[in-house]
Amino acid sequence: EKGGYDYFMLKEIAEQPKAVADTLLGRIDAFGSLRLDELRISAAELREVDKIVVVACGTAFHAGMIAKYAIEHWTRIPCEVELASEFRYRDPILDPRTLVIAISQSGETMDTLMALRHAREQGSKVLAICNTNGSTIPRESDAVLYTHAGPEVAVASTKAFLTQLVACYLVALYLGQARGTKWGDEIHVVIRDLSQISREVERVLETMEPVRELARSLAAKNTVLFLGRHVGYPVALEGALKLKELAYMHAEGFAAGELKHGPIALIEEDLPVVVVVPSPRGRSVLHDKIVSNIQEIRARGARTIVIAEEGDEAVVPYADHLIRIPATPTLLQPLVATVPLQVFACELATARGNEVDQPRNLAKSVTVE
Ligand code: F6R
Repeated sequence: EKGGYDYFMLKEIAEQPKAVADTLLGRIDAFGSLRLDELRISAAELREVDKIVVVACGTAFHAGMIAKYAIEHWTRIPCEVELASEFRYRDPILDPRTLVIAISQSGETMDTLMALRHAREQGSKVLAICNTNGSTIPRESDAVLYTHAGPEVAVASTKAFLTQLVACYLVALYLGQARGTKWGDEIHVVIRDLSQISREVERVLETMEPVRELARSLAAKNTVLFLGRHVGYPVALEGALKLKELAYMHAEGFAAGELKHGPIALIEEDLPVVVVVPSPRGRSVLHDKIVSNIQEIRARGARTIVIAEEGDEAVVPYADHLIRIPATPTLLQPLVATVPLQVFACELATARGNEVDQPRNLAKSVTVE
């Protein structure tokens, strides 16, 4: 059942190109436009939406954080993202023109379910992004966009996360398409890039041996930090979460711009710091900022592990370890940048003798509060 792999997690990491492709299948038409009639929310209703709120927990929350960048960029609709467990206990401002997006692999997470019930009571429409057919969250939502990752058995989420990202991009682009924003041309280009991204994920998987080697060499460390900016920030949080749950190490993700506001005090000789570098071709100011962040931490002794796209030469002098990923548009980069972090955490857990598929104290679906 593990298909020749030692762990379900390894199998599920390897299945990601297919999971991504399957989630796009049938949703892009011959003209390169999105077809999401399955949403059952009319174009007229979508044009009415004046606020989007994304709710989720854990890894799904990180997908939601990335969704915010995509939604606000392509639709110009204000978007908030909140942990379901926080959202449900405040008094959030919701009305019938608010679209709430609930992201959940299992479709059974109690906090996410309670958050969506609360939203519907206020008259908001709820769209579920879910991997499990017929589970509670999609059954109680107004609409659902299924991710087609297939069953995810390992407790740590991998392929479900990548497909959640794809689903979030699809929703953002579809809203942009339905509402006709000024990004119309860009939307077509991105849909094309998205339709080819599963091959890029596959290319990343083919080059993971040095990442595994690096992970093994760090097995005796106590702490690993992760830095990112823009969509690289949630990727850093996801890398840290994977390492906590699998390797039981102290791992923290930071927005690189916050370094000077505290976290840089943590940097000491030989502390491993993973940095997710945005494309130098996109918004180059983001890229330049992070290159100077890498210089700053390295000058204080950090061992820098840099994830940067092929052809980015500016990072080379400051990278103790360089992990290359294919060039992608900035907003789509999390689909390729997350994969090395999953492999890194899985290999470190193995090197430390941990149970990869069943980390201590964790359950696959959290149906208690
Ligand atoms: C981390 C992980 C968890 C889940 C979270 C939400 O690897 O798997 O953080 O992402 O418990 O679960 P779902 O998506 O089923 O609502």
